[in-house]
Amino acid sequence: MSVAESVTELASGPVIGVFDSGFGGLTVLRALVERMPQARFVFLGDTARLPYGSKSQRTIARYAAESARFLVEEQRAEFLVIACNTASALALDAIEAAVPVPVLGVIEPGAEAAAAHTKTGNVMVIATEATVASHAYAAACGRRGVRAVEKACPLLVPLVEEGWTDHPVTAEVVRIYLAELLEAARHAGLQPDALVLGCTHYPLLRGVIERSVPEGVTVIDSAEATAAEAARRLATRVRGVACETVEPAAGPQIRCFATDSVAKFERLGSRFLGHPVGVVELVDLGG
Ligand code: DGL
Repeated sequence: MSVAESVTELASGPVIGVFDSGFGGLTVLRALVERMPQARFVFLGDTARLPYGSKSQRTIARYAAESARFLVEEQRAEFLVIACNTASALALDAIEAAVPVPVLGVIEPGAEAAAAHTKTGNVMVIATEATVASHAYAAACGRRGVRAVEKACPLLVPLVEEGWTDHPVTAEVVRIYLAELLEAARHAGLQPDALVLGCTHYPLLRGVIERSVPEGVTVIDSAEATAAEAARRLATRVRGVACETVEPAAGPQIRCFATDSVAKFERLGSRFLGHPVGVVELVDLGG
């Protein structure tokens, strides 16, 4: 497929826009592709403005709305998956107001997966500073009768971006963060049996994280739960056609855009996606 070809000229099937502040959201895209190999995906990583996790709600909402408009207005996405916890926590309303298509974030599916798993009714969440400050996970868990203790882990995104996913420094940083989180949980009288990865970069650290959590604590990645929810909603909402009735394409049809760092995206993106990302196109969404 030529990169100049419009995504709408590809074989039939819903166009699903997937958005992240960087390329961590490719972990969600990977789960979506596994669930819906027949769909066409257009992924945007707002790498020029990453990280969102240390920015204000107003700025995150503006960036996320602009990115959503690009996917819907220029790439004809019919359904949006916000594969970014920070944007899902702080900008879902702004995105919904900006585009006329259904929008799914990762917080509610993540909280749902945590609630389905926990037996103690207590969970831990690690995320960016902005996501934790919003308490979006605590609120979503609370609506399901689950208590959550949250911790911001701002060093983890840069470590993943550096490609240090299995590095001794990363392992030590993870160990320290989780020790502090467990102490906070103990202090609050909680007995958590699940740890939610509340940032789309963190699944790349799953191995390191699983080695650091106490026995009996399960690591939960919202990607799979988000993909399942997207498939469920698409089956009823996009063109009124169930996805399962569409003939599977030869392989996943994915077109990737980034607002900066295209070479880095191509180099590191395959780790997130699980196979080569191919050519990544540069797009300018302004400042
Ligand atoms: N994608 C963001 C998230 O899932 C992490 C990177 C960032 O801070 O922009 O929260």
